Amino acid sequence: MAQNTNTMWGGRFSNKPADIMEQINSSIDVDVRFWKQDIQGSKAHCEMLIKQKIISTEDGQKILKGLDQISDEINAGSFEFKTALEDIHMNIESRLKEIIGDVAGRLHTARSRNDQVATDFRLWTRDAIGNLIAKINSLQSTLKSLSNKHAKNVMPGFTHLQAAQPITLGMHMDAYWHMLNRDKSRLEDCSKRLNKCPLGAAALAGTPYPIDRNFTAKKLGFEMPMENTIDAVSARDFANEFLFSCAQTGLHLSRLAEEIILWATPQFGFITLSDQWSTGSSIMPQKKNPDAAELVRGKTGRLNGNLIQLMTVMKGLPLAYNKDLQEDKEPVFDSYETLCLCLDAINGMLDTASFNIDAMKSSAEMGYTTATALADWLVMELDLPFRDAHHVTGMIVKMAENKDCKLDELALTDMQSVENKITNKIFKVLSIRP
Ligand code: ARG
Repeated sequence: MAQNTNTMWGGRFSNKPADIMEQINSSIDVDVRFWKQDIQGSKAHCEMLIKQKIISTEDGQKILKGLDQISDEINAGSFEFKTALEDIHMNIESRLKEIIGDVAGRLHTARSRNDQVATDFRLWTRDAIGNLIAKINSLQSTLKSLSNKHAKNVMPGFTHLQAAQPITLGMHMDAYWHMLNRDKSRLEDCSKRLNKCPLGAAALAGTPYPIDRNFTAKKLGFEMPMENTIDAVSARDFANEFLFSCAQTGLHLSRLAEEIILWATPQFGFITLSDQWSTGSSIMPQKKNPDAAELVRGKTGRLNGNLIQLMTVMKGLPLAYNKDLQEDKEPVFDSYETLCLCLDAINGMLDTASFNIDAMKSSAEMGYTTATALADWLVMELDLPFRDAHHVTGMIVKMAENKDCKLDELALTDMQSVENKITNKIFKVLSIRP
């Protein structure tokens, strides 16, 4: 065999690839991240080959042992990854050959890198979803304890970022708990749909060997083999769903980050971030900046970009495998790592922040936030049509504005000059009670 060609597929080649060809073709820097899943998939495949007597038990055992050794080497950091070997699959297989000799070549019987990579990627994404869900759970429990702790602490609720109606901090935190709960169920849903096994599809058309796809599917924790082998090697909608779920979760975190940033300004003064979660300014000594929250908000751009990247790669790709698909992993790995970081950062910030409940309460008392309650009282107690109640309330608010006082500081007679049926029972809705 010509020595200067790629030993995995170089049979019909007499020259090695150009340097730039090697560079553009290589994905090892990226797909090294799923080396564990690659070994896991190879071991399941090898056990199936033994069971089906496609390879001998003796050869199979050598392969399994060799794969374990590779796993130890990678864990120990002594494995040498080579760009010339393109990707994680060929790096591992080539090392297997160094360790056990030509028997290594039997592992790739009844398999292609196309079903191999699709399997690895699904396994990796399933694990990633599990890790993200654990992080979301942890953030949710921080939010839950904040909403319990502040169930009766009043703050202004906003629409148009104008004080609208009084709410509680607990209720506000609980809103984020629910958003994250939906994010979690989107990830769970994605995990359910991706949980079918591509292995056995080979390049695209299946394989003539008497393989047992149910065995490998079960061994790898998949619900069943993928039904259509062409679809098995070319589908990446699971990755798009994952990217969308990450982007949507990031978007929710970004809204929370934005509120943390606003609330931490001296103008709002609702929240004080701990020193651990703040940074200083090199020129303005008084500054304490919420950089982590700003970065969570900023990183939403990456999460959205990653989704658009893969959707664009996939658009117009003919069936089945095309090398474009190698571009599928980087956005997925990046979104996972970015989202892990954002979830941890928001959790750390919230967990160590102190909420200035007095400032929140006095802010809730500004801006006539009980005006809607006043209008509703006029409807419920005096049977005014809501539109009339709205008008009456508007006049009362204007009166308070002119007198520069709060609504509950107005005299009953003043309010009666606008609507004479008003009684002193109205005062119970004019001031804020949790
Ligand atoms: N590194 C490749 C990828 O990620 C593996 C599959 C290669 N398949 C092929 N037919 N060249 O897509």
